[in-house]
Amino acid sequence: MSLIQVQHVDKSFASGHGSISIMKDVSFEVKDSDFVAIVGPSGCGKSTLLRLIQGLDRPSGGRITFHEQAVDTVCGHMAMVFQNFALFPWLTVSQNVAFGLEALGWEKERMAAQVERYISVTGLEGFQEAYPRELSGGMRQRVGLARALAVDPEVLLMDEPFSALDALTAESLREEILQLWRDPQLPPDAVLLVTHNIEEAIQLADRIVVLSRRPGRVLAEVAVDLPRPRDRKSAAFYDLTDRVYSLITQPGPLTGGSAAAEGSAPAS
Ligand SMILES: Nc1ncnc2c1ncn2[C@@H]1O[C@H](COP(=O)(O)OP(=O)(O)OP(=O)(O)O)[C@@H](O)[C@H]1O
Ligand SMILES: [Mg+2]
Repeated sequence: MSLIQVQHVDKSFASGHGSISIMKDVSFEVKDSDFVAIVGPSGCGKSTLLRLIQGLDRPSGGRITFHEQAVDTVCGHMAMVFQNFALFPWLTVSQNVAFGLEALGWEKERMAAQVERYISVTGLEGFQEAYPRELSGGMRQRVGLARALAVDPEVLLMDEPFSALDALTAESLREEILQLWRDPQLPPDAVLLVTHNIEEAIQLADRIVVLSRRPGRVLAEVAVDLPRPRDRKSAAFYDLTDRVYSLITQPGPLTGGSAAAEGSAPAS
Protein backbone atom coordinates (compact mmCIF):
# COMPACT_ATOMS: atom_id res chain seq x y z
CA MET A 1 0.00 0.00 0.00
CA SER A 2 1.30 3.42 -0.92
CA LEU A 3 1.74 5.82 2.01
CA ILE A 4 3.53 8.81 0.55
CA GLN A 5 3.84 9.85 -3.07
CA VAL A 6 6.18 12.62 -4.07
CA GLN A 7 5.28 13.52 -7.65
CA HIS A 8 7.40 15.82 -9.80
CA VAL A 9 8.11 18.17 -6.91
CA ASP A 10 9.90 21.47 -7.54
CA LYS A 11 10.89 23.90 -4.81
CA SER A 12 12.31 27.41 -5.11
CA PHE A 13 12.90 30.10 -2.52
CA ALA A 14 12.78 33.85 -3.07
CA SER A 15 16.28 35.30 -3.28
CA GLY A 16 16.92 39.00 -3.88
CA HIS A 17 14.66 40.00 -6.78
CA GLY A 18 14.47 36.49 -8.18
CA SER A 19 14.23 32.97 -6.88
CA ILE A 20 16.62 30.11 -6.36
CA SER A 21 15.72 26.58 -7.38
CA ILE A 22 16.41 24.03 -4.62
CA MET A 23 14.95 20.88 -6.15
CA LYS A 24 13.56 19.89 -9.50
CA ASP A 25 11.19 17.16 -10.58
CA VAL A 26 11.69 14.95 -7.53
CA SER A 27 9.51 11.82 -7.54
CA PHE A 28 9.51 8.74 -5.33
CA GLU A 29 7.16 6.70 -3.22
CA VAL A 30 7.11 5.39 0.34
CA LYS A 31 5.00 2.27 0.81
CA ASP A 32 3.61 0.71 3.94
CA SER A 33 6.48 -0.83 5.97
CA ASP A 34 9.17 0.70 3.76
CA PHE A 35 12.47 1.98 5.10
CA VAL A 36 13.64 4.57 2.58
CA ALA A 37 16.81 6.63 2.79
CA ILE A 38 17.50 9.88 0.97
CA VAL A 39 21.13 10.73 0.35
CA GLY A 40 22.65 13.66 -1.48
CA PRO A 41 25.15 16.48 -1.14
CA SER A 42 24.73 19.29 1.35
CA GLY A 43 22.25 21.91 0.16
CA CYS A 44 20.42 19.66 -2.34
CA GLY A 45 17.16 20.10 -0.43
CA LYS A 46 16.92 16.98 1.76
CA SER A 47 15.68 18.79 4.87
CA THR A 48 13.37 20.92 2.75
CA LEU A 49 11.96 17.75 1.20
CA LEU A 50 11.12 16.31 4.66
CA ARG A 51 9.41 19.60 5.57
CA LEU A 52 7.36 19.46 2.37
CA ILE A 53 6.37 15.84 3.05
CA GLN A 54 5.21 16.66 6.58
CA GLY A 55 3.28 19.65 5.27
CA LEU A 56 5.39 22.29 7.06
CA ASP A 57 6.00 24.00 3.71
CA ARG A 58 4.49 23.77 0.20
CA PRO A 59 6.10 22.63 -3.04
CA SER A 60 6.47 25.26 -5.79
CA GLY A 61 5.38 22.62 -8.30
CA GLY A 62 4.26 19.02 -8.34
CA ARG A 63 2.34 17.22 -5.66
CA ILE A 64 2.80 15.27 -2.43
CA THR A 65 0.14 12.88 -1.19
CA PHE A 66 -0.31 10.83 1.99
CA HIS A 67 -2.78 7.94 1.64
CA GLU A 68 -3.64 9.48 -1.72
CA GLN A 69 -4.76 12.80 -0.16
CA ALA A 70 -2.80 15.96 -0.99
CA VAL A 71 -0.68 17.08 1.98
CA ASP A 72 -1.90 20.66 2.45
CA THR A 73 -1.50 21.09 6.19
CA VAL A 74 0.85 19.68 8.85
CA CYS A 75 0.29 15.94 8.84
CA GLY A 76 -0.30 14.51 12.34
CA HIS A 77 0.44 10.97 11.17
CA MET A 78 4.10 11.77 10.62
CA ALA A 79 6.68 12.82 13.18
CA MET A 80 10.20 14.19 12.77
CA VAL A 81 13.47 13.45 14.55
CA PHE A 82 16.14 16.14 14.10
CA GLN A 83 19.93 16.15 14.00
CA ASN A 84 20.18 18.71 16.79
CA PHE A 85 17.41 16.98 18.83
CA ALA A 86 15.32 20.21 18.92
CA LEU A 87 14.27 19.69 22.55
CA PHE A 88 12.77 22.42 24.72
CA PRO A 89 15.50 23.18 27.28
CA TRP A 90 13.04 24.53 29.86
CA LEU A 91 10.93 21.33 29.84
CA THR A 92 11.80 18.04 31.55
CA VAL A 93 12.17 14.79 29.63
CA SER A 94 8.55 13.82 30.34
CA GLN A 95 7.28 17.25 29.36
CA ASN A 96 9.27 17.15 26.12
CA VAL A 97 7.84 13.73 25.28
CA ALA A 98 4.32 14.95 26.11
CA PHE A 99 4.65 18.06 23.96
CA GLY A 100 3.01 16.73 20.78
CA LEU A 101 0.25 15.03 22.75
CA GLU A 102 -0.64 18.23 24.59
CA ALA A 103 -0.88 20.01 21.27
CA LEU A 104 -3.29 17.26 20.15
CA GLY A 105 -5.38 17.80 23.28
CA TRP A 106 -4.87 14.37 24.86
CA GLU A 107 -6.59 13.83 28.18
CA LYS A 108 -4.17 13.93 31.13
CA GLU A 109 -4.16 10.31 32.30
CA ARG A 110 -4.03 8.85 28.83
CA MET A 111 -1.20 11.22 28.01
CA ALA A 112 0.77 10.22 31.13
CA ALA A 113 0.42 6.53 30.21
CA GLN A 114 1.57 7.19 26.65
CA VAL A 115 4.57 9.23 27.87
CA GLU A 116 5.59 6.43 30.27
CA ARG A 117 5.26 3.88 27.50
CA TYR A 118 7.67 5.67 25.19
CA ILE A 119 10.02 6.64 27.99
CA SER A 120 10.31 2.90 28.57
CA VAL A 121 10.56 1.96 24.86
CA THR A 122 13.44 4.40 24.39
CA GLY A 123 15.28 3.43 27.59
CA LEU A 124 14.75 6.71 29.44
CA GLU A 125 13.41 5.33 32.71
CA GLY A 126 14.76 7.23 35.69
CA PHE A 127 15.32 10.39 33.60
CA GLN A 128 11.70 11.58 33.47
CA GLU A 129 12.38 14.68 35.59
CA ALA A 130 15.80 15.51 34.09
CA TYR A 131 16.32 18.53 31.84
CA PRO A 132 17.95 18.16 28.40
CA ARG A 133 21.15 19.91 29.58
CA GLU A 134 21.66 17.11 32.11
CA LEU A 135 21.67 14.42 29.40
CA SER A 136 24.28 13.07 27.00
CA GLY A 137 23.74 13.50 23.25
CA GLY A 138 22.55 9.91 22.94
CA MET A 139 20.00 10.38 25.71
CA ARG A 140 18.82 13.65 24.18
CA GLN A 141 18.20 11.89 20.89
CA ARG A 142 16.26 9.22 22.77
CA VAL A 143 14.02 12.02 24.03
CA GLY A 144 13.64 13.31 20.46
CA LEU A 145 12.70 9.81 19.39
CA ALA A 146 10.28 9.25 22.29
CA ARG A 147 8.58 12.57 21.53
CA ALA A 148 8.18 11.57 17.88
CA LEU A 149 6.92 8.04 18.65
CA ALA A 150 4.48 9.21 21.32
CA VAL A 151 2.08 10.53 18.66
CA ASP A 152 1.93 7.00 17.14
CA PRO A 153 3.15 8.17 13.74
CA GLU A 154 2.63 6.01 10.68
CA VAL A 155 5.76 7.53 9.19
CA LEU A 156 8.87 8.54 11.09
CA LEU A 157 10.85 11.26 9.30
CA MET A 158 14.47 11.40 10.42
CA ASP A 159 16.81 14.24 9.40
CA GLU A 160 20.44 13.16 10.03
CA PRO A 161 19.39 11.75 13.40
CA PHE A 162 22.70 10.07 14.21
CA SER A 163 25.24 12.54 12.89
CA ALA A 164 25.66 14.54 16.12
CA LEU A 165 26.33 11.36 18.13
CA ASP A 166 29.53 9.45 18.82
CA ALA A 167 30.03 6.30 16.73
CA LEU A 168 29.04 3.75 19.39
CA THR A 169 25.92 5.63 20.48
CA ALA A 170 24.90 6.11 16.86
CA GLU A 171 25.32 2.40 16.20
CA SER A 172 23.13 1.31 19.10
CA LEU A 173 20.42 3.83 18.21
CA ARG A 174 20.44 2.61 14.60
CA GLU A 175 19.80 -0.92 15.80
CA GLU A 176 16.98 0.30 18.01
CA ILE A 177 15.35 2.17 15.13
CA LEU A 178 15.42 -1.04 13.08
CA GLN A 179 13.80 -2.95 15.94
CA LEU A 180 11.07 -0.34 16.31
CA TRP A 181 10.38 -0.36 12.60
CA ARG A 182 10.12 -4.17 12.55
CA ASP A 183 7.92 -4.40 15.67
CA PRO A 184 4.27 -4.58 14.58
CA GLN A 185 3.12 -3.47 18.07
CA LEU A 186 5.00 -0.19 17.89
CA PRO A 187 5.05 2.77 15.51
CA PRO A 188 6.17 3.63 12.91
CA ASP A 189 5.05 1.62 9.86
CA ALA A 190 7.52 3.34 7.58
CA VAL A 191 10.72 5.30 8.05
CA LEU A 192 12.12 8.00 5.78
CA LEU A 193 15.72 8.76 6.73
CA VAL A 194 17.82 11.63 5.42
CA THR A 195 21.53 11.04 5.79
CA HIS A 196 24.94 12.06 4.44
CA ASN A 197 26.24 8.67 5.47
CA ILE A 198 26.01 6.19 2.58
CA GLU A 199 26.96 3.20 4.74
CA GLU A 200 24.26 4.12 7.23
CA ALA A 201 21.71 4.28 4.39
CA ILE A 202 22.78 0.84 3.13
CA GLN A 203 22.78 -0.64 6.61
CA LEU A 204 19.23 0.53 7.34
CA ALA A 205 17.18 1.11 4.20
CA ASP A 206 15.34 -1.06 1.67
CA ARG A 207 15.71 1.63 -0.95
CA ILE A 208 17.93 4.66 -1.35
CA VAL A 209 16.85 7.75 -3.25
CA VAL A 210 20.04 9.42 -4.47
CA LEU A 211 19.76 13.17 -5.08
CA SER A 212 22.08 15.33 -7.17
CA ARG A 213 23.69 18.58 -6.16
CA ARG A 214 21.38 21.60 -5.90
CA PRO A 215 18.92 21.83 -7.46
CA GLY A 216 18.30 18.30 -6.18
CA ARG A 217 17.07 15.81 -8.79
CA VAL A 218 16.69 12.08 -8.37
CA LEU A 219 19.83 10.54 -9.88
CA ALA A 220 18.78 7.00 -9.02
CA GLU A 221 16.70 4.86 -6.76
CA VAL A 222 18.87 2.01 -5.52
CA ALA A 223 17.33 -1.14 -4.04
CA VAL A 224 19.25 -2.61 -1.11
CA ASP A 225 18.70 -6.34 -1.50
CA LEU A 226 21.08 -7.45 1.25
CA PRO A 227 19.85 -9.84 3.94
CA ARG A 228 19.47 -8.44 7.47
CA PRO A 229 21.33 -8.08 9.75
CA ARG A 230 23.67 -6.52 7.22
CA ASP A 231 27.36 -7.14 7.33
CA ARG A 232 29.24 -3.92 6.66
CA LYS A 233 32.35 -5.94 5.86
CA SER A 234 30.77 -8.09 3.14
CA ALA A 235 31.74 -7.69 -0.52
CA ALA A 236 28.10 -7.01 -1.47
CA PHE A 237 27.88 -4.18 1.09
CA TYR A 238 31.11 -2.70 -0.19
CA ASP A 239 29.99 -2.91 -3.84
CA LEU A 240 26.74 -1.12 -3.07
CA THR A 241 28.56 1.61 -1.11
CA ASP A 242 30.83 2.10 -4.08
CA ARG A 243 27.89 2.31 -6.47
CA VAL A 244 26.03 4.95 -4.45
CA TYR A 245 29.24 6.89 -3.85
CA SER A 246 29.97 6.95 -7.60
CA LEU A 247 26.45 8.18 -8.34
CA ILE A 248 26.83 11.09 -5.92
CA THR A 249 30.30 12.08 -7.04
CA GLN A 250 29.84 11.64 -10.78
CA PRO A 251 30.41 14.79 -12.81
CA GLY A 252 27.21 16.85 -12.95
CA PRO A 253 25.96 19.43 -15.44
CA LEU A 254 28.22 22.13 -13.94
CA THR A 255 31.33 20.22 -15.01
CA GLY A 256 29.98 19.19 -18.39
CA GLY A 257 29.30 15.53 -17.54
CA SER A 258 25.94 13.85 -17.53
CA ALA A 259 23.78 13.14 -14.52
CA ALA A 260 23.01 9.68 -15.88
CA ALA A 261 20.04 8.01 -14.28
CA GLU A 262 19.97 4.45 -13.08
CA GLY A 263 17.20 2.15 -11.92
CA SER A 264 13.76 3.69 -11.77
CA ALA A 265 14.88 7.31 -11.73
CA PRO A 266 12.77 9.54 -13.95
CA ALA A 267 14.53 10.93 -17.01
CA SER A 268 15.57 14.52 -16.47
N1 LIG B 1 13.19 28.97 4.20
C1 LIG B 1 14.19 29.11 3.33
N2 LIG B 1 14.39 30.26 2.65
C2 LIG B 1 15.38 30.39 1.75
N3 LIG B 1 16.26 29.41 1.45
C3 LIG B 1 16.13 28.25 2.09
C4 LIG B 1 15.09 28.02 3.06
N4 LIG B 1 15.22 26.75 3.52
C5 LIG B 1 16.27 26.21 2.88
N5 LIG B 1 16.82 27.10 2.02
C6 LIG B 1 17.95 26.85 1.13
O1 LIG B 1 17.64 25.69 0.37
C7 LIG B 1 18.81 24.93 0.14
C8 LIG B 1 18.55 23.52 0.56
O2 LIG B 1 18.46 23.49 1.97
P1 LIG B 1 18.25 22.15 2.79
O3 LIG B 1 18.46 22.50 4.19
O4 LIG B 1 16.96 21.53 2.40
O5 LIG B 1 19.45 21.25 2.23
P2 LIG B 1 20.01 19.89 2.80
O6 LIG B 1 20.14 18.98 1.62
O7 LIG B 1 19.19 19.42 3.94
O8 LIG B 1 21.47 20.29 3.29
P3 LIG B 1 22.35 19.68 4.48
O9 LIG B 1 22.83 18.34 3.95
O10 LIG B 1 23.47 20.65 4.63
O11 LIG B 1 21.48 19.55 5.68
C9 LIG B 1 19.93 25.62 0.90
O12 LIG B 1 20.67 26.37 -0.02
C10 LIG B 1 19.22 26.51 1.88
O13 LIG B 1 19.96 27.66 2.17
MG1 LIG C 1 19.59 19.16 5.93
